[in-house]
Amino acid sequence: MGALKIFLVFLVVRLLSVFLVTTFFVPDEYWQSLEVAHKLVFGYGFMTWEWASRIRSYLYPLVFAGFYKVLALLGYDTVELLVIGPRILQALLTAYSDYRFYVWTGKKKWSLFLLLTSYFWFYAGSRTLINTLEASLTTIALSMFPWHSERTDFLWLTAICCYIRPTAALTWLPLCIIHLKNSEHSAIELILKRYIPIGLLAGGLCIGVDSYIYGLFTVPPAQFFLYNIYENIGSFYGVHEWYWYLAVGLPTLLGISTLPFLFAVINTILNWNAFPIRKALLISILFTLAGLSFIEHKEHRFLLIILPMCLYICSDYLSRWSTRANSLLVWLFAAAIIAGNAAPGWYFSTVHQKGTLEVMKPLAKIAESYRDKDNNPARLLFLMPCHSTPFYSHIHQNITMYFVECDPHNDKDYQIFNNDPERWLRMKVPAMPLSRVPSHVVLYNTLVPRVRTFLSRYRKIERIHHTDYPVSNTGTYIHTYEINLEEEYERQFVEDPVASSPSHSGHDEL
Ligand SMILES: *[C@@H]1O[C@H](CO)[C@@H](O)[C@H](O)[C@H]1NC(C)=O
Repeated sequence: MGALKIFLVFLVVRLLSVFLVTTFFVPDEYWQSLEVAHKLVFGYGFMTWEWASRIRSYLYPLVFAGFYKVLALLGYDTVELLVIGPRILQALLTAYSDYRFYVWTGKKKWSLFLLLTSYFWFYAGSRTLINTLEASLTTIALSMFPWHSERTDFLWLTAICCYIRPTAALTWLPLCIIHLKNSEHSAIELILKRYIPIGLLAGGLCIGVDSYIYGLFTVPPAQFFLYNIYENIGSFYGVHEWYWYLAVGLPTLLGISTLPFLFAVINTILNWNAFPIRKALLISILFTLAGLSFIEHKEHRFLLIILPMCLYICSDYLSRWSTRANSLLVWLFAAAIIAGNAAPGWYFSTVHQKGTLEVMKPLAKIAESYRDKDNNPARLLFLMPCHSTPFYSHIHQNITMYFVECDPHNDKDYQIFNNDPERWLRMKVPAMPLSRVPSHVVLYNTLVPRVRTFLSRYRKIERIHHTDYPVSNTGTYIHTYEINLEEEYERQFVEDPVASSPSHSGHDEL
């Protein structure tokens, strides 16, 4: 097939994923990219503590901010386009990186096949997640890496990767050492003439952009290192055992391809000097896994960066295997790969954790059109663990929205919410005047019995399925409640309007 056709195949699959993947993965997909872009362009949006601590780079949100700005200038800044547009942008980049992967792997059928069928890449490839960007940029950089030549332009992308995501250095350090070792030029010469100038230029440009937007000199990777490694802030968000990536993370990332990957790894180790590229990639993968395993806070998405390398090793191994193997066996194996990816691909992309995304659509409508008797717009309360849903980027109305914050530097509020949600409500959410009381409350079914008193002023208007496997403080369903305006007005009428304090404790239905 021609190059363009192959690219179009990737493009179609990634664009399909924009529309088919309707589930929530992690908060950062929205809070560290779209939310920031929304704030930059429209003036409102929530900036998490990461931005106050200046540990994140604006480079990625800036791409979406540029897109938002164009939409705003054209007058097309509808919430639908704000939500879907950035995903299409990332899907374009992912499709391009897929194409580069295909070229890099020597246009092997297996590389095309493994990449297209990878359920995890389908699930994550069109998300506005820094790890998706990191994986696509790394793939493009790998395709430029001087496996057989002397080019050094991959260093630009490598530098940017490490700048936006300092942990990418775990992946790139071994590869750079291999590059220095294998090159015809001396390492000193390369470092002085290429590594340092490119690093300084790329880093300088990035620092310039970030410092401009932050309004003061800022080196986000340095801040990141300070916070995440030195203060170990990440462990606030959960801690896993050291072997989690090997036992859970990697098998989840690769799915059914874990099996051929293991064979490929064994085959690579047994023929250590026969496959130099596989060897280099394996070293980088192991170094990345080891490095990440030292950090207490672990997530599936942190492994996205090694996905292309794992698939390279797999496809190279399978290409050699399939020329020798029985063709029936090869077809059976390919069918197993398809089936093994289709099942989790369908489930994770369309079923598991879809409620927190789906609920935003009716909420955006409410935000746009709801008005009470005094023409006050809606006030939304997300009575859920922090960052359970997207925020202003999916609402696009400057209305009041309350949510449970969790700042790792001060998690007292969050503990109060967990232990005694009614107390959190009394502390954080106004019970009067009516114009400030939340008009709508969004919460998991599991929390409903714990806030009965508070909810006595509300009635349920919607129930959305979220997941069959709720974890700790989530739930199977998401409920939306709306305040009983008629009752509120009646009460205001009956009681002295000045003294009327519709304290919810007075209306306890228990
Ligand atoms: C958004 O609303 C808040 C509160 O009403 C107001 O202070 C702020 O200026 C508004 N921002 C924009 C950009 O309209």
